Amino acid sequence: MKKVAPSILSADFTRLGAELSAMEAAGADYHHLDVMDGHFVPNMTIGPLVVEAARRAASIPLDVHLMISDPLTYAPQFAKAGADIVTFHFEATPHVHSVMMKIAQAGAKVGISLTPSTPVEALSEVIGGLDLVLIMSVNPGFGGQAFIPESLDKIARLRRFIQARTDRHILIEVDGGVSDKNAAQLYEAGADILVSGSFLYGAPDYQAALDSLKR
Ligand code: DX5
Ligand code: ZN
Repeated sequence: MKKVAPSILSADFTRLGAELSAMEAAGADYHHLDVMDGHFVPNMTIGPLVVEAARRAASIPLDVHLMISDPLTYAPQFAKAGADIVTFHFEATPHVHSVMMKIAQAGAKVGISLTPSTPVEALSEVIGGLDLVLIMSVNPGFGGQAFIPESLDKIARLRRFIQARTDRHILIEVDGGVSDKNAAQLYEAGADILVSGSFLYGAPDYQAALDSLKR
C-alpha cells in the first residue's frame, strides 16, 4: 500500500496546526499521534485535548498510538476526541478483547501494537477483530532511536500469519527508526504504513523526505 504516517512527536508543538498542514501538503497519508502516560513508558506526551485540536486542524485520518497502562478506561476517550484508528499495546492489559470492543463501539478502527519482545503469535485469538497491527521496531517511549533489525523478519512473519487466518487485508504499520535507509525493505517485507518522526519532522524539506520513503 505504501502509506506514510508522520509522527508529531518530532513536530514543533508551538505551531502544531501548521506542521500538520505542511505534512499533508508533502503527501502524508495519516498523522501519527503518540500518547504516553509516564507509566507504561517512561515519558509523557499528549491527551485527548490535543487529539481534538489536531482533528480540527487536520484533513487526513488521525492514527493514535496509545502507550498507556489503562487503555480499557482511556481508549474510548481518544476515539471520541476524533481518532480514526486507536492502537493500544497488547502488553498493557489483560483485557485485550474488551479494549478492542470498546474502541469499535466508539466508532474507530482497532489496532494492536506489539513491542519488540512480544511474538506475532500473541495475536492468534484476536486477529479476526483487528483493522491494524503496529510492529514497534524500537522500544516504545522516545523518538530518534535506532531501528531493531529483527523487526524486518517479524513483519514478514506477521504478513504470513495474517494471510493464513483471514482473507481481510489487515494493515501492518511499523514504528521506530524508520528512514530512507530501511523504507524499501519494510514495504517489501509486507508493511503498509511506515511511521516516521525524527526522519520526517527533522528534515529540511518535508516533501523530499516523504518521497524518499515511498520511492
Ligand atoms: C516511539 C513512538 C514513535 C516515534 C518514532 O515510542 O511510538 O512514533 O515518534 O520516532 P522515530 O521515527 O524518530 O523513531
Ligand atoms: Zn508511535
